[in-house]
Formats: sequence, structure tokens, C-alpha cells
Amino acid sequence: MDMTSLTNYRKLSDAGRRVILPSLLACDFANMERDIRQIEKAGGTALHLDIMDGHFVPNLSFGVPVTEAVRRTTDCVLDVHLMLSNPEEYFTSFRNAGADGITFHLEAIADQSVPGRNFARAGCRVSEVPEMEKILDRTCSLLDSLHRMGVAAGLSIIPPTDVEILKPCLERCDNVLIMSVMPGFGGQKLDTTSLAKLRWLRANAPETMLRSVDGGVNAQTLADCVLAGATGLVMGTAVFDGTDPEARFKDYTTSMETL
Ligand code: DX5
Ligand code: ZN
Repeated sequence: MDMTSLTNYRKLSDAGRRVILPSLLACDFANMERDIRQIEKAGGTALHLDIMDGHFVPNLSFGVPVTEAVRRTTDCVLDVHLMLSNPEEYFTSFRNAGADGITFHLEAIADQSVPGRNFARAGCRVSEVPEMEKILDRTCSLLDSLHRMGVAAGLSIIPPTDVEILKPCLERCDNVLIMSVMPGFGGQKLDTTSLAKLRWLRANAPETMLRSVDGGVNAQTLADCVLAGATGLVMGTAVFDGTDPEARFKDYTTSMETL
């Protein structure tokens, strides 16, 4: 099995490094290559791809063909965020499309034990689910299956979900993605309860694991996220809104590195 993707992804959080992951959800879809080149010119080494199915989250974004096109366009590490129901059904397709890391939602696995349940839309607390142990076992085996495919494995939770619930899975995660907004749309306001989750991860997760935050990360909230322990900063609107993603990316990198 070719483990290049896994190796490249793990380099993102090598020796306590921090990385900005521009979310292509906010780029100009009519000029994707142009926007990607701007990130590369600014020194960017990774891109975040928000995949949405209109079921797990109330929005549709893009899927495998766009991921393949991005893969053909850049050597950046592709960090694919599956906001999908039954995400395991798509692991192989996104691996084959060129994903280096695949992050899926604990809530999507919790949904599976009760037909018709949808935590991400209902916004209720996963932790109150009686069959949680079984759900976490299944989540751990899905993380293992991603590693067997040669990609980095990530787990994401929405704001209502307690981060402590992830404890049994942490050793298998290359990335934990703390959603600081309800998933589905860029440009929302960061939910500051996410900062405590980042602090908990810094205290409880393996040092080498990427601790990412996604949603509402911008010039005003970047420092709080980094000081709370974030090492992966997903930034969509803050990078791609406006005319100069290259300058924006450079500015955020400078401020992140001075913290
Ligand atoms: C929400 C998406 C967004 C996006 C970044 O489902 O995951 O969080 O990546 O959003 P902004 O534009 O707030 O950085
Ligand atoms: Zn995302």
C-alpha cells in the first residue's frame, strides 16, 4: 500500500507545527486553479475540501470529480472533510480521487443506529445516545480502515457534541476537527465553546495529532484558536472573500507564527 498520503498529511503537524488549511468551499469555483495558485504562491501546503451531501448537512457543495480536478492541479496536501451521511461508503472514492486525509463526523456514525436520526441538523447532543460504546467501536474500526487505505484518518464533531466522548478513538486519529459552527455553510460566527474543546485535546490527545478548528476562523478569532491549542486552522471566507487570497494567507500565517 502506498503510504505517501499518510506520511505527507502527518507532516502537517510535525514537531508542533501549525498549518492554515484554506477551505475551497469559499473559493471562486469559476477560477479554482487561479485561487489555488495564489495559496501556493503564499507558501500554502494544504487545502481543505468541504464535501456536503444535502442530507447530513442542509447544503450541497462538491464531490469526487472536483476533488480529482484539485488533485490534478496541485501538490498541496488535500484534507477532505466529509459532511456526509454514511461517510464510509465514500472512503474509497475520495481516496482514489486523491485525498491525503479523510475526516468524517462522529454524528454521522451515531445517526446510523437509529434510522432517520440526523444529529447535525437537529443539533442535539450525541453524548446522550445510549448505544454510544457500540458507535465508538464502529468509529474506531472506520478510522483503522482509512489507515489501511493509506490515508490519514480524522474525526470531526459539531458544537453540541462533547469532545471527551472521543477519548477511545484519539490514538487512531491523525486529525480531530472541532467544528466551531454548525456544519453546512461558510461565513458563520465562531462558537467560542470550541476553544475549551481545543484545550482539552491539547491536554489529552497525542502530541502529533492535528488539532483543527473549522468555521469562523478569521483575523479576529485566529489568535484565540491558536492560544487554545489549535494546530490546524481551517479558513474559508477569511482567505477567499475579497480580491487577494495570497496577501490574506500571508498575513494570517505571519500572525499565527508570531503567537
Ligand atoms: C462548514 C464549513 C465551513 C468552512 C469554513 O460546514 O466546514 O466551516 O469550512 O468556513 P469559514 O468561511 O467560516 O472559514
Ligand atoms: Zn470543513
